[in-house]
This record gives sequence, C-alpha cells and structure tokens, in this order.
Amino acid sequence: MIKKCLFPAAGYGTRFLPATKSMPKEMLPIVNKPLIEYAVEEALDAGLTEMAIVTGRGKRSLEDHFDISYELEHQIQNTEKEKYLTDIRRLINECTFLYTRQVEMKGLGHAILSGEPMIGNEPFAVMLADDLCLNLDGDPVLAQMVKLFKQFRCSIVAVQEVPRDETHKYGVIAGEPMRDDLFRISTMVEKPKPEDAPSNLAIIGRYILTPDIFDILRDTPPGKGGEIQITDALQQQAKDGCVLAYKFKGTRFDCGSAEGYVEATNYCFQNVYKNV
Ligand code: G1P
Repeated sequence: MIKKCLFPAAGYGTRFLPATKSMPKEMLPIVNKPLIEYAVEEALDAGLTEMAIVTGRGKRSLEDHFDISYELEHQIQNTEKEKYLTDIRRLINECTFLYTRQVEMKGLGHAILSGEPMIGNEPFAVMLADDLCLNLDGDPVLAQMVKLFKQFRCSIVAVQEVPRDETHKYGVIAGEPMRDDLFRISTMVEKPKPEDAPSNLAIIGRYILTPDIFDILRDTPPGKGGEIQITDALQQQAKDGCVLAYKFKGTRFDCGSAEGYVEATNYCFQNVYKNV
C-alpha cells in the first residue's frame, strides 16, 4: 500500500568535514555498509520498493552505489568475495531508484517538496539516513510504522525521549496519549530551547506522510533557521486533521554526530557484522 520512500540526501554533511568534502555523508560506512544502504534496506524490509532520493551536487556516488558495477562483478565472479555483494544485489534487484536534485538548500521541508514529482498523490515514507535505527529482535522501525499506518491512515512521526537539554537538536511534540507508545499530536516545535519544549519527545528521522503534506509545504513560510521545516507543515496537518507520534521499538543512533557514529559502528561490529 505504501510503495515509495523518500530520502532527503542533499545536505553538505559539514559536521563530518573533511571526510564529506568530496563524498556524500550518506556514503559514510558503518563498518562495511554505507548509511544510505542501511536505510534502503529498512525501507525494503517494510515492503517499500520505490526509493526516491533527493540528491545535490557532488552526490553521484549514491547513484553508482545502487547500480551494477560490471568490472567488479566480472572480477569477483565465482570467488569467495562474491558474498560481500549479496546484500546490495538484493536491493538492486528488488528496488527501483529514482533521483532528483535539490537545487537550493532551503531546509528539510523544501527537500521533501522537491521530491513531489517522484511521489505523486500517494502516502509515502521519509527516512533520514543519518538516523540509523536498528531493532534486531523484531520488526525494523519503518515496518512498525507501516503497520500503524494501515490502521490509522494518517501521517506518523517516530519519536523518542531525549534529555531535556537536547531538545534544541530536534523537532519536539506534545499530544494526547492513545496508548503507551502512541500520541495524537497537538503541538510540534522545531528545535526548541529546553524551557520552550512542549515535552521531551523528539522526532527522529522516520516519517510516514499523506500526500496533502505537499500543498501544506507549498504554503509553509520559512521557520527555524530561515528554512522550510517539515515540523511546521506537520503542525498544520495536525491542526487540520490528525498526525500521530509513535515511540518505536529499537535503538536509534545519531550518525550525524561523531559520538553516535562511533556508537553505531561498535554496535554493528558486535551485533551485525560479526554474525554474518
Ligand atoms: C531534522 C528535523 C528535526 C528532526 C531531526 C531528526 O533536523 O528538522 O525535526 O528531529 O531531523 O534527526 P536535522 O537533524 O536535519 O537538523
């Protein structure tokens, strides 16, 4: 029912300079797999097969990654090294990849709106690849959200509790609890100071959006940082209808920070890579 997943991937990755000077931050590896590949895998495991990637200048290696490299295939054919390509081959075989470029950097909301021609008039997921989410004992996070969407049929954001002094890094929500892990959102604020935060429930980079969000985004004025914020558009959608916040099961690593990146690397080395 939800087939498409949008990956905003045009950002400069300034927090990881100089590594990201000529390489997209989405290609930074966690052990041996780039961040974008973990995200595409999570989308496919949730049943989504059309991957719509919003790129920018200097991001060509993203397209090459999800394509066949004939030389390489030829070189390692029938050798023991073929096993290293098993995962990426599955993605290339089972998914379709679409690309567009975000020409100006005007915020996450603007990046999502740039993807509209690839999405059209249907509900879709949005994943931010630098939030790596793992749930090794059960459904991946996006699959959990797709299940919820089937039931509620409205936009859903993934949230987690964060320390109060970190609210300025996130979109923060407040809402009416519907269950222990589900809220109907009443308020959303982009990157509030701790004293202005409506709660400590922070949005992380997993969204399911209904397509009316595009019209709302078109009318959303620049907000925090002078950028068009998806949080502001969702606040409008919540006022007009319903937006849910879901406390997901699993672990999220902020791979946009050095600390989260190292944590994710250690975790994946111990729990994923060594078990393959
Ligand atoms: C974006 C969103 C923010 C959200 C965060 C999750 O911020 O604007 O609402 O909490 O992603 O990672 P960014 O981290 O791109 O500044």
